[in-house]
Amino acid sequence: MRLRGTLLSLGFRVCGALCALTAPAFAEPAGLEYPMRRVAHIFQPLSRPAEMISEAAYLVSLICLGVFLVVAGLLVFIMIKFRRRAQDDGREPPQIYGSTNIELAWTVIPILITVVLVLVTSRTIGEIQNMKMPEDALKIRVVGHQWWWEIHYEDLGIVTANEVHIPVSSRDPAQATPTHIVLQSADVIHSFWVPQLAGKTDLVPNKTNDTWLDPYETGVYFGNCAEYCGTQHANMLLRVIVHTPEGFAKWVASQKVPPAAPQTAEEIKGHQLFYGYACINCHTVDGTVAEGVFGPNLTKLMTRQTIGAGVAELNDQTLWAWVNDPQGLKTGCLMPDMQLLDPEVDAIVAFLKTLQ
Ligand code: CUA
Repeated sequence: MRLRGTLLSLGFRVCGALCALTAPAFAEPAGLEYPMRRVAHIFQPLSRPAEMISEAAYLVSLICLGVFLVVAGLLVFIMIKFRRRAQDDGREPPQIYGSTNIELAWTVIPILITVVLVLVTSRTIGEIQNMKMPEDALKIRVVGHQWWWEIHYEDLGIVTANEVHIPVSSRDPAQATPTHIVLQSADVIHSFWVPQLAGKTDLVPNKTNDTWLDPYETGVYFGNCAEYCGTQHANMLLRVIVHTPEGFAKWVASQKVPPAAPQTAEEIKGHQLFYGYACINCHTVDGTVAEGVFGPNLTKLMTRQTIGAGVAELNDQTLWAWVNDPQGLKTGCLMPDMQLLDPEVDAIVAFLKTLQ
């Protein structure tokens, strides 16, 4: 058991490290409330559905390893035992056709192995998909867009983007407080995947899918779109911020406080530019005439950790770069370069920074 675990985890650590290399690396701000959980594989689950998938994957990998060892072992054995020798006379060995026993063995055994694999995987899929959510489970609707995530808390009146905030659950099923996630798409097929929390579930246009998260520990869990959806598929990143129950209540309360009105001359100028240019065609700021729905809701923009669906950490420099030319940070994204002058960018950034 221990050897199995060590070998497999070694293999997956290598894969995980390779995956992590492909994720955009930017320094995380110091003094974060929760640990960063930047894990890109399924073998360190911290949530019930992820744990079930991980267990099934271990079993399937083990069976495949067994098949590989038998086949490769026999091959090596035959290659050595029947190798060409010095006294070889060059004649072919006697040809034997049709052994019923051997034919039966290599037909029936693979069929049995396949049946076991089908049973194991369909049982896990069924258990996860048919899980009954408690009546009072937190319900979130996530809509996939090219290339960002729209996140609705309908019961709480909150709309945000790219960072899903949920409360922590418990390893004890009797005390679990899972979060129910409804998945939809505004354009093409995307896939919601946070490896440590749950398996991949597709977001399909004109269809509603479900998944659920049941995290055992607080943290900032990294996820991404797992279905190729266009140019910036690789930059359709996702974070799930798992709070303590008190932390989650605090986050909800903070999201419901409307942002302060712009104060300084720069902020007021930025406010005018924001409402004068095309920004409001695509973006919403709650309680104002900005009611666009093509881009992320900006009401509490500055409470987020990243910009452009995880393309960069959100700070003054990246916000400036984004407003100045979104295509520079994320080529192909739907927000065009508005050809703003530098002082206009300064003012709009000053206004956006009031959205907190
Ligand atoms: Cu969305 Cu890939």
